[in-house]
Amino acid sequence: MKNLTTALMVIISSLLAATAAPGPWVQTLTKGNKKITKFHFYVHNQQAGPNKTVYQVAASSITPTLPTNFGIVKVLDDLVTAEPDIHSEPVARVQGLIAYSDFHTAAIAMNVNFYITAGEFNKSTLCVSVRLALTEPLREMPVIGGTGAFRFARGYALSTSYTFDFATGNSVFNYTIYVITPSHEIVWTGF
Ligand SMILES: *[C@@H]1O[C@H](CO)[C@@H](O)[C@H](O)[C@H]1NC(C)=O
Ligand SMILES: *[C@@H]1O[C@H](CO)[C@@H](O)[C@H](O)[C@H]1NC(C)=O
Ligand SMILES: *[C@@H]1O[C@H](CO)[C@@H](O)[C@H](O)[C@H]1NC(C)=O
Repeated sequence: MKNLTTALMVIISSLLAATAAPGPWVQTLTKGNKKITKFHFYVHNQQAGPNKTVYQVAASSITPTLPTNFGIVKVLDDLVTAEPDIHSEPVARVQGLIAYSDFHTAAIAMNVNFYITAGEFNKSTLCVSVRLALTEPLREMPVIGGTGAFRFARGYALSTSYTFDFATGNSVFNYTIYVITPSHEIVWTGF
């Protein structure tokens, strides 16, 4: 029985490894008292054009004097799809703020929520708060919590640029997110 369980676990983990990329846009696995959810999807960051999803809302008095855009604040509501094509299955939105907040280098503070809009986690959110160096080809960010299915969530995201249009600044980002939550819902009683 134990051997059978071990064999099954080996098969399951090799299946997960085999489907790691591109694979489905969301996968879950329970290990002990933890549930691991993996997302893989594409974020459409449209800085220009008719379907613009990123808007500048503020700048500081010293923004024009610095090479790093320091003080610019933007609000975004980016579409997230299962595949790189913007017309592929819509699965989430990324909503929140980015602020250029480094005097010396091109770096931002990004505070956003991934709002899932499809599948079993529909309407749950993941909260990401991070400093990003814009010159890094591989960006890492912490998932610091969530709502709905992602209460008590902790995790991290990795992102690369899938496409970038120098003329418009429009990008498609490739995101992989791992989130750990308790495998059983924790319900507090008595208050
Ligand atoms: C903007 O979105 C509309 C509706 O999805 C689409 O038909 C059109 O091709 C998009 N335009 C651009 C430039 O992406
Ligand atoms: C997700 O929730 C929205 C809003 O309640 C609903 O319109 C939509 O049909 C739901 N989608 C799925 C896949 O459950
Ligand atoms: C997406 O990024 C991951 C790293 O997080 C990388 O392994 C994978 O090859 C990338 N996929 C595409 C299609 O760019």
